[in-house]
Amino acid sequence: MSDGREQWKSKIGFILAAAGSAIGLGAVWKLPYVAGTSGGGAFFLIFLVFTLLLGTSLLLAEFIIGRKTQKPPIQAYKELAPGTLWYGLGILGIISSCLILSFYSVVGGWIITYFVRSLTGSLTDPATGDYGALFDSIISNHWEVGAAHLVFIIITILIVQGGIQKGIERASSIMMPSLFIIFIILVIRSLTLDGAMEGVAFFLQPDLSNVDGETILFALGQAFFSLSLGVSIMVTYSSYLGKQESLVRSASSIVGLSVLIALLSGLAIFPGVFAFGLEPNEGPSLIFTVLPAVFSEMAFGSVFLSLFLLLLLFATLTSAFSLLEIVVSSTAKNNPKRRRIAAWVGGISIFLIGVPSNLSYGILSDWHIFGDIFFNQVDFLVSNILLPIGAFLIAVFVPLKINRQDLKEELLRGSKLGTGFFQAWLIVIRYITPIAIMAAFLNVLGIW
Ligand code: TRP
Repeated sequence: MSDGREQWKSKIGFILAAAGSAIGLGAVWKLPYVAGTSGGGAFFLIFLVFTLLLGTSLLLAEFIIGRKTQKPPIQAYKELAPGTLWYGLGILGIISSCLILSFYSVVGGWIITYFVRSLTGSLTDPATGDYGALFDSIISNHWEVGAAHLVFIIITILIVQGGIQKGIERASSIMMPSLFIIFIILVIRSLTLDGAMEGVAFFLQPDLSNVDGETILFALGQAFFSLSLGVSIMVTYSSYLGKQESLVRSASSIVGLSVLIALLSGLAIFPGVFAFGLEPNEGPSLIFTVLPAVFSEMAFGSVFLSLFLLLLLFATLTSAFSLLEIVVSSTAKNNPKRRRIAAWVGGISIFLIGVPSNLSYGILSDWHIFGDIFFNQVDFLVSNILLPIGAFLIAVFVPLKINRQDLKEELLRGSKLGTGFFQAWLIVIRYITPIAIMAAFLNVLGIW
């Protein structure tokens, strides 16, 4: 390309990296616990509808912005809407990404701790028995989880500072397929536990009488979170994509993979919850208490558990790379030295913002802000407020600032779909997405 910007080595590299950003703790850790606390099957159904309709359309919208401008978000918004405040959308994305990474890296640290402990076999040892108590004792061990948190951030920094192609692309192409395989093994074990079907029913049988405004807002937030939408990350990634690739095809693969992992994850967790007499609504610790129990029922369980945790760690890292990448690419342009500085300064600041989240499960557990611990409030603020706002603004921006002909050309290039698809997409972006997000907010605020 003329300005010598790096590009993805291959289309599959882009898909893997974008899917790598999408697939991570959102599907594996967050979805089960949020579904567990907000209505089970009804939540999952609403999440699916939002993902397939609004999520896919918004993913395409972010792709269009990135590929059309070939620039990172702030510069992209400036180019498309010169002289306006729309570049604030890029800044909002950076702030949201930092906040997400701040608690994301805490959970990344938990996974590292669990992984290290799994190597000694102490997590599947039947003598331990009570995995809930085990979680509590591990998590309140501040030095251990603090160190693991720091290690997680440092790995993220080291990979991001190396540049987009070498780091992210190479890593994703091995890790994602492996995670998928071990997930299938896990689901098979889970589904064959005694009492598994109760869990399947909880997860897949929607009981719509459980649904309230909050369920809808959470499902909306979860749909954006698990596709990495609303913070312009997908703008960043697609800005490295060649002009010839079909955006629609890439988006379908990413949404498909991500929904599949969410489904597998629910099918791995909920049968275990019911088979072991646990509660589905225990919150962020859910997978950490259920999975070791399921693995302990498996031949070579401790080996599989270690392998699973390792791959989950990789999936978590590929999402974390994307969160730090947006901060770095926005501040460093293409200068390698500035890239290194931005990665370290950004990464360490994010670590510091995350410390109170980490301590929320220990010495700060009594420190409540608006009635909940710091960790949960940061998660709530980002997932259910900032991401939907970002998504809303992107949905308004795209049809407003990019002309119809350009939109159509970017969207359909390289795909066999016709004008009908373009028009349907435009309706979803222009009307349905902003209205749905507004309605969810107004409803939760009690105004509508
Ligand atoms: N989508 C990732 C996950 O599900 C997390 C993530 C990465 C993210 N980048 C994001 C969430 C940007 C929201 C916005 O684990």
